Amino acid sequence: MLDTRISRRATLMGAGAVAAWLASPARALLQTAGRLEVPAFVDSLIARMTLEEKAGQLSLMASAWGGGIAAALNPPSNSNFPQQVDEARKGQLTGVFNGNGARMARIMQNAAMKESRMKIPLIFAADIIHGHRTIFPVPLAEVASFEPELARRTAEVAAFEASGAGIDWNFSPMVDVARDQRWGRGVEGGGEDPLLGSLFAAARVQGFQGANFKSNEHFLACVKHFAAYGAAESGMDYNTVDLSERTLREVYLKPYKAGFDAGALSAMASFNELSGIPATGNHWLMTEVLRGEWGFQGFVVSDYTGDEEMIKHGYAKDGRDAAKLAFLAGVDMSMQSGLYRQHLPDLVRSGEVPQQLLDTSVRRVLAMKAMLGLFEDPFRRIDEKREASRSMLPRSRAIARESGRKSIVMLKNDGDLLPLPRSGKKIALIGPFASGQHDLVGPWVVYGTDEKAVDLATGVRGAIADKNSLIIAEGSKVDQPIPGGIDQAVAAAQQADIVVLAIGESQGMSGEAQSRADIVVPKPQQELAEAVAKVGKPVVVVLKNGRALALEGAVANAPAILVTWFLGTETGNSIADVLFGAYGPSGRLPSSFPRLAGQQPYYYAHKPTGRPNPDPKLEDYKARFRGITNTSLYPFGHGLTYGKIEYSGFTISSPSIGMNGEIEVTATIANRGQRAAEEVVQLYIHDRVASITRPVREMKGFKKIKLEPGQSEVVRFTLRPADLQFYGVANKPVVEPGTFDVWIAPSAEAEGVHGTFDLTA
Ligand code: BGC
Repeated sequence: MLDTRISRRATLMGAGAVAAWLASPARALLQTAGRLEVPAFVDSLIARMTLEEKAGQLSLMASAWGGGIAAALNPPSNSNFPQQVDEARKGQLTGVFNGNGARMARIMQNAAMKESRMKIPLIFAADIIHGHRTIFPVPLAEVASFEPELARRTAEVAAFEASGAGIDWNFSPMVDVARDQRWGRGVEGGGEDPLLGSLFAAARVQGFQGANFKSNEHFLACVKHFAAYGAAESGMDYNTVDLSERTLREVYLKPYKAGFDAGALSAMASFNELSGIPATGNHWLMTEVLRGEWGFQGFVVSDYTGDEEMIKHGYAKDGRDAAKLAFLAGVDMSMQSGLYRQHLPDLVRSGEVPQQLLDTSVRRVLAMKAMLGLFEDPFRRIDEKREASRSMLPRSRAIARESGRKSIVMLKNDGDLLPLPRSGKKIALIGPFASGQHDLVGPWVVYGTDEKAVDLATGVRGAIADKNSLIIAEGSKVDQPIPGGIDQAVAAAQQADIVVLAIGESQGMSGEAQSRADIVVPKPQQELAEAVAKVGKPVVVVLKNGRALALEGAVANAPAILVTWFLGTETGNSIADVLFGAYGPSGRLPSSFPRLAGQQPYYYAHKPTGRPNPDPKLEDYKARFRGITNTSLYPFGHGLTYGKIEYSGFTISSPSIGMNGEIEVTATIANRGQRAAEEVVQLYIHDRVASITRPVREMKGFKKIKLEPGQSEVVRFTLRPADLQFYGVANKPVVEPGTFDVWIAPSAEAEGVHGTFDLTA
């Protein structure tokens, strides 16, 4: 969906992102994106390598340095560093991941370059999911900005810091579409929508990789977890995924493809099985789709012990079988299990794995090391001085603050309670997240710390004129009451004019292995909210969350609610910017907030059913749960501003288009409020009758615009038949004539302005 025809790749992008993309230096990269260049010396190296050395190049291990951040993140793993250095000398590993910086990398690289037989440089990997030392909002939060260009910029800073610290390869972006909020890892990804997720996938790849792989300010991106890890049954991490090929292609595969199209040359296999075959052993997925259909030229690494886990899946007999199945499926490199170095040489000798396949995988890995400039200068990203001098620069923190405030979503603002005045009012800041160096950076942070982040109280103090007008009360722990805590909180509320209630989830409640069966605000905090609400002062809920939550009682009923996720290093400043109006909220929900937790999985682009409930009425024998409509509490795309936005004047350039035509739809968006506002104008369609039933709505584009008070703008979108495409009966893309509804709206459930058109044969 685009206004101007620019290129095939650009047509992947939502209209709002196009201008930024055109201006981006990453554009150059896209022209040669995704091509693996294999220098001639790689084949002469391969010709001299033993089978053991080849298997070593396909074996990546968690770093054993210093007791191991890696070990803490992913137990059990080796903590014997001298032994690991010895493995580097013997050519038994291709590199390590999540080690602690340049010093470790230097010791290991020295061993590989000076003492190993082949002198092949090691590659150092890490999970830099949302920042290295400067921590940015969790990825899901940043997606709420609806500004892929912002994600490109934060990824660029992450790469700048981390690649100064010896890291060549980043296990990011995580692009798994997540439609069940119980799943803990939705926090690392791009939300529920494939278009939005695809744009952020591409932007992050561009930011990490830059235009030149050899630059010591960028590193290799790894698109993960391939594939459909986010579709785990019941949202339980690592659980079974059973999907139709159509839904897989139409929804889940899109963001991975966008990441590869943007140039990512590595992929990580996912832990889950996919309709009966674990992804790690899935030849159709790893070879036929990824390489055959998509032309992926990079290399695939297993996720942690994903190859070995095929034994427990009931797919592989033993370690040898697991290594063989994973390798033959198309997983080039094994992470952490050690199964490849243990079994591949023998599997080749016995003829079960063709030598040529082994050489192909080794060639991919060595070519990538060459593209990263490691053969020319194995130490190019290893520099202790640079590691320190690049850490948390003021400009990096400024981007973190900008990204933080753009990630905040205002769900509700009754009576224009927000923004708060900077003086003249007493504020009670209440809740477990009111102050203190905890739960700031969010899940999946290896190198940043809460101690270096700004907490909410500090941010608020910085924004108000009279520092004595702030009263702080913890009220409750995250999931335990504090004796007397509620009484203190109530007393604080009584003394204040306004309450800011900072409640929600701790950072341990989302992320890997942190699925929740019930996605509500934990009980002690809900009780705190009920008690504070009874005091009768206006309450602003500042929600900390790693997923969409089911809000209840006093939390749902508070006059103002801000979704603030985990915002990283500049948390307190970013929230204060929005609370006190230095910045008007501009974020939009990347995941729908349900009415009740039991609605999960809940997503806006669901199918119609034969008995749709006529929302907002509740009718018997219609598709809904008892007592609630089948809508969300706050839908995908929702978010308010400090302006007053009105949609009017829908136009459509023609009542019908042919198969080679295009159609322009427009709406007038006006700001009738007193304050400037940034609006995310969204374009949705619905195909009324098709050979495969179609979702009730699908987003086809969006534009983020800024409107001064009294200003209005005509926003234009162009739709082409390709935007109306879906996977037909034969699981191939088809475009079918018919009638389409089209909306230009402020969310996936809002009416906005709308019309219809016909696509004719
Ligand atoms: C996670 C991956 C991560 C890897 C290495 C796994 O447990 O699923 O996302 O990249 O560990 O830390």
